[in-house]
Amino acid sequence: MVNKPVTALVLLLAASLSGNLSAAENKKDRIEPRNETFEQAHPEQYKTWKETSESEQLTDALAEDPLMVIMWAGYGFSKDYNKARGHFYAIDDLRNTLRTGAPKDGKTGPMVMSCWSCKSPDVARFLDENGEDAYFTGKWAKGGPEIVNAIGCSDCHDTRSKEFKNGEPALKLTRPHVLRAMEAIGKPFEKQPRLDQQAQVCAQCHVEYYFTGPTKAVKFPWDKGMKVSDMEAYYDALGFKDWTHKVSKAPMLKAQHPGYETWAQGIHGKNNVTCIDCHMPKVENEDGTVFTDHKVGNPFDRFENTCANCHTQSKNMLQEIVATRKAQVLEMKLIAEKQIVAAHFEAGAAWKAGATEAEMKDILQDIRHAQWRWDYAIASHGVHMHAPEVALSVLGTAVDRASDARTKLVRLLAKKGITDAVEIPDISTKEAAQKALGMDMEKMNKEKQEFLKTLVPEWEAEAEKREAAY
Ligand code: HEC
Ligand code: HEC
Ligand code: HEC
Ligand code: HEC
Repeated sequence: MVNKPVTALVLLLAASLSGNLSAAENKKDRIEPRNETFEQAHPEQYKTWKETSESEQLTDALAEDPLMVIMWAGYGFSKDYNKARGHFYAIDDLRNTLRTGAPKDGKTGPMVMSCWSCKSPDVARFLDENGEDAYFTGKWAKGGPEIVNAIGCSDCHDTRSKEFKNGEPALKLTRPHVLRAMEAIGKPFEKQPRLDQQAQVCAQCHVEYYFTGPTKAVKFPWDKGMKVSDMEAYYDALGFKDWTHKVSKAPMLKAQHPGYETWAQGIHGKNNVTCIDCHMPKVENEDGTVFTDHKVGNPFDRFENTCANCHTQSKNMLQEIVATRKAQVLEMKLIAEKQIVAAHFEAGAAWKAGATEAEMKDILQDIRHAQWRWDYAIASHGVHMHAPEVALSVLGTAVDRASDARTKLVRLLAKKGITDAVEIPDISTKEAAQKALGMDMEKMNKEKQEFLKTLVPEWEAEAEKREAAY
């Protein structure tokens, strides 16, 4: 008789004890995604990290260069494309861009989970807690309530380690697909010297990648190497395409931002001057102690701690060199674009005139290669500084492939009885170019606002509740 309640009590005790224990264990083990929780232990790093919020200006790249609307016809980037700004804004900007559309719940598209991969330490946390399949499976909106903290401490550090707690760097690659990619190029993270590890931390995100397999997981196309032709051969062998071009029907590739790849081929990369030397220099505190400035931004803003560490030239002179190279890359970029855009419209005209798949095949391949090369050269932001000679020579090959396409198109069009120049619609502004493609921007913008007003606050409330239990 007495036995029963005692057993029940013991069971109850055991259950609550084990419940408490596993909660405690959980807490101790979780990768901490909330950047502000590190403020107390590492005030300088936190303060300077937070200063990435000072780079808040949004620049509409499509308004600056409407030809890109046509280059990306039929693909998300033709809707909306802003230049990069501070790491602090990564989550906001991903929610705000028209490219992620206006999901209504956790199951609607258009994008996939992979799109979160370079935006947040919550990605590191979620991967660590649930594994890759659970992370990558599903639509982008599935991750809305989970991925909420902007790029920060647990993206680059093993924040659970004793070393980190003691104030040492403890750098870490926090995505398994990055670890595999580094192995593919023969540079496994664990075996690299410090400088290489530093650059690899940035290469978690500032790289070319694509989505593959049943879960549309992230992979870097580096199996044949990191040069423009290596990756082109890789994608061709797979028969991979990101989308079919709306005007030319070419099987297109979208380069992401192969910054690590192009840096590695430039003069600083070859000398193992890494991203950190210029973007995260060591600086001195008022009390003379040295720490790493975490305000990842423009290195010229801290010239004395960056370039001047190795160069004797003046800031003005080096800035002028970089500005000149920027202008040269921009000029070649526009030359390539003019040729590629014309090729898209001429291919469109050839289809209308009754061209066959067989007649178009080589031409479309030329267009694919031309635009891939153009994109590889310019999508890696800062390339005019990191590797201007790579950008210029790759853009040269883009012009070459586009002119191959156009030479063939002139012949094909003539065969179909078209000898006049193919007319190009008004694409002089972003709005005109989007209109020429029949895009309903008003509708897209309206749906986006609705999404930001309804679903996003739900995500935030859910995340707050979840984090309150950490
Ligand atoms: C984009 C990557 C990145 C992010 C984000 C990042 N760090 Fe770092 N951190 C580095 C690098 C690189 C170093 C220097 C490594 C070296 O010296 O080899 C470093 C160094 C450190 C160090 C060692 C001491 C020092 O200053 O050199 C501490 C502590 C640290 N970071 C804390 C933080 C905290 C706290 C956050 C979040 C608020 C953070 N880091 C976010 C990349 C990052
Ligand atoms: C977890 C992914 C991730 C990591 C790691 C990362 N970045 Fe970024 N970086 C981004 C994204 C995303 C943006 C664009 C943010 C936006 O525009 O909202 C960005 C923007 C930038 C910018 C533009 C800043 C500005 O103010 O205009 C620079 C420079 C930069 N990153 C350099 C680096 C360097 C150097 C490293 C390594 C120390 C690094 N990043 C590590 C994802 C990452
Ligand atoms: C030798 C110095 C140096 C090295 C090394 C370097 N950068 Fe840069 N980077 C710069 C400078 C300077 C700029 C700005 C150029 C300008 O003002 O036009 C820049 C620009 C950028 C931008 C574009 C910022 C924007 O808002 O458009 C990104 C992103 C970037 N760097 C990332 C990286 C990454 C990632 C690495 C390493 C793989 C790296 N950088 C290596 C000096 C460097
Ligand atoms: C850690 C050392 C280091 C830092 C920091 C550094 N550089 Fe360099 N830079 C080099 C080395 C090494 C070379 C190779 C040429 C040489 O041996 O002088 C080089 C070459 C150059 C060249 C000439 C090569 C060419 O591309 O034609 C320019 C221009 C240049 N750096 C600009 C900059 C600027 C601008 C910054 C700051 C944003 C910077 N560097 C930061 C080490 C550095």
